[in-house]
Amino acid sequence: MIPFVDLKAQYRSIKQEVNAAIQGVLDSCQFTLGSEVAAFEDEFAGYCGVRHGIGVNTGTSALHLALLAANIGARDEVITVPFTFVATVAAIYYTGAKPMFVDIDPQTFTMDPAGLEAAITSRTKAIIPVHLYGQTADMDPILAIARRHGLVVIEDAAQAHGAEYKGRRAGSMGDLGCFSFYPGKNLGAYGEGGMVVTDNLDFTRSVRMLRDWGAEKKYQHVLKGYNFRLDGIQGAVLRVKLRHLEAWTEARRSAAAVYDKLLAESGVPTPRAIPHRRHVYHLYAIRTGHRSEWQHSLQSQGIETGIHYPIPVHLLPAYSDLGYSAGDFPHSEHAANEVLSLPMFSEITRSQCEEVSSAVNRLSRQTSYSAVREHMARTPCSY
Ligand SMILES: Cc1ncc(COP(=O)(O)O)c(C=O)c1O
Repeated sequence: MIPFVDLKAQYRSIKQEVNAAIQGVLDSCQFTLGSEVAAFEDEFAGYCGVRHGIGVNTGTSALHLALLAANIGARDEVITVPFTFVATVAAIYYTGAKPMFVDIDPQTFTMDPAGLEAAITSRTKAIIPVHLYGQTADMDPILAIARRHGLVVIEDAAQAHGAEYKGRRAGSMGDLGCFSFYPGKNLGAYGEGGMVVTDNLDFTRSVRMLRDWGAEKKYQHVLKGYNFRLDGIQGAVLRVKLRHLEAWTEARRSAAAVYDKLLAESGVPTPRAIPHRRHVYHLYAIRTGHRSEWQHSLQSQGIETGIHYPIPVHLLPAYSDLGYSAGDFPHSEHAANEVLSLPMFSEITRSQCEEVSSAVNRLSRQTSYSAVREHMARTPCSY
């Protein structure tokens, strides 16, 4: 069996460190926020190359509070992509603003800046590029357009811890960056977690208050806030894991290089890593027009895969009120029909990558032989 993600293998490799860190929180009884969370905020902000980090309970809350700190609310519009996890769009809804979409670039699965300017209206207040699968969006043109129109840029870096764009870290390029520490993420908590990072002191103050009932001091509620605090145990676990993140990221990149090389022989479309961007391979998604057969066959050979994501947000029943229909964002829709994520985690072995690649190459060959056979059967013999 080759799992899609192996959290147990990672836990085994850091068991002593993590257990000691959790014990420290139990001994201190600092169960929400506290010194471990404060230290992790500083360390993770430093890792991203920004001044401030504010820990929250989930990546979704990070996006929600980043939008509120930027003063976004009813009657505003926020532009993002439909090919993302639903949370990006849900967070916009929570503020009362209207999500607007632009299509993705099919090579990178991230926001196509070419479509951005046309989506801007007098109500547009912010842009949320999503660094999907671990590769950043094309930030320079996005930031230039945002600057021209006076828009806030909030990076959805939930899948992109440590990813880089021209030497700048994910989360440090926009006005605010939002991360998720969901257990399966490249930096995952042992429960839920998220963070907003920013260089801006006003945004920092607002997010800090909003995550803790809008209070400046205990019982002095300045803003209408939320209970979105990060747990002490998660802060302690994440501090331990952050020390390993670079090694784990390099292990993911090596595994991706093995897949790239071995899958090249059958010509299966593999992820396109753009020069001057550091892809951190949260996911390794190939494309196939025969996805359900391939997924089924791989499963029967003991290889787990995933689909991220089968339905673009503009076609989800929950968001039918936005009034979009099939055909509105063709690159997102094609991607949603074709992407298939192969097993990818830091502890994956070379032989596991080889086994997965052989199985995919066999499927690719079988698919092309049967396509040739079907074509020949349809083509009349001319002699
Ligand atoms: C792109 C993206 N945005 C936002 C989120 C939301 O993060 P969380 O699950 O921590 O709320 C996720 C998590 O899956 C994600 O992948």
